[in-house]
Amino acid sequence: MSKPKILVTRTLPEPAEKILNDQFEVDYSRDPLGIARDEMLRRVADKEALVCQLNEIVDEALLNAAPKLKAVATVSVGYNNIDVAACTRRKILATNTPGVLDDTTADFAFALILAVARRVVEGDKFLRAGEWTGWNVSQFLGSDVWGKTLGILGFGRIGKEVARRAHGFKMRVIYHNRTRADAASEREVNAEYVDMDTLLRDSDFLSIHTPLTPVTKHLISSAAFAKMKPSAYLINTSRGPVVDEVALNDALERKVIAGAGLDVYEREPEVVPGLIPRHNVVLAPHLGSASMETRVKMAVLAATNVADFFAGRRPPTPLNPEVLSR
Ligand code: GLV
Repeated sequence: MSKPKILVTRTLPEPAEKILNDQFEVDYSRDPLGIARDEMLRRVADKEALVCQLNEIVDEALLNAAPKLKAVATVSVGYNNIDVAACTRRKILATNTPGVLDDTTADFAFALILAVARRVVEGDKFLRAGEWTGWNVSQFLGSDVWGKTLGILGFGRIGKEVARRAHGFKMRVIYHNRTRADAASEREVNAEYVDMDTLLRDSDFLSIHTPLTPVTKHLISSAAFAKMKPSAYLINTSRGPVVDEVALNDALERKVIAGAGLDVYEREPEVVPGLIPRHNVVLAPHLGSASMETRVKMAVLAATNVADFFAGRRPPTPLNPEVLSR
């Protein structure tokens, strides 16, 4: 029997490719720069499944171009690249990769907190430029992290892991979430629920961990910055559009807040130009889950989702499980 055809838009770690190669006739796009939209539309036309990543858009136009499609797996936890409702209408399974990247992303939020507060990147550039003349009591004075208040916006799996880490730094942890977590979860990571205004007002570090939805888009805008401490830092490892990037640049320019550590941007790979020269901003190119171990787990989970589905097993992390029971 011939194997189902699948388009995989990137080279994946070997264990993930093995799962796919065993079960599918795989068309890999191996260009390290990625697959162009028109090429993706052309190559998906005869495929029953698609493994893609978060900057590849699965919308009505793509679904129209792929009449045989039965499953779409994104190698990411965020799935704002997929029109899940449109998939569901067509009985196409959509999957993402939750759970396997929580610790790695929480580590990265802390990497940004420490880097921006303790001026690690500035110091590195200074040393490499040959400008260091020796220890200096007043050089690159930053802000302490330990003992400060960490505000977590979005108390899902990643937000909770950030809370857990904060206690190693003797921080007070407050959080805000659309719905308050149960008492056991709060106790487990020792985090105190506060309303949004209190979160903005009390946080020395405000770390964002919400998904991107119509409700969270530009949740952090000039009105929010105005409520923050002038000594506060904004950390974003979630999705760029949760923060109004122009308003952030303006808040930094006017010293409304002290700095920012960013991993995500409104129009990736573009960054609001005003942010680039700022010494009090650390800019990472969307690396939150980018450890070797975690990227292998994400790719294996995406591959397992489509492999299980086509083998008649329940895929581990469906976004629209309702299509499975039809
Ligand atoms: C990364 O941003 C992801 O959504 O996995």
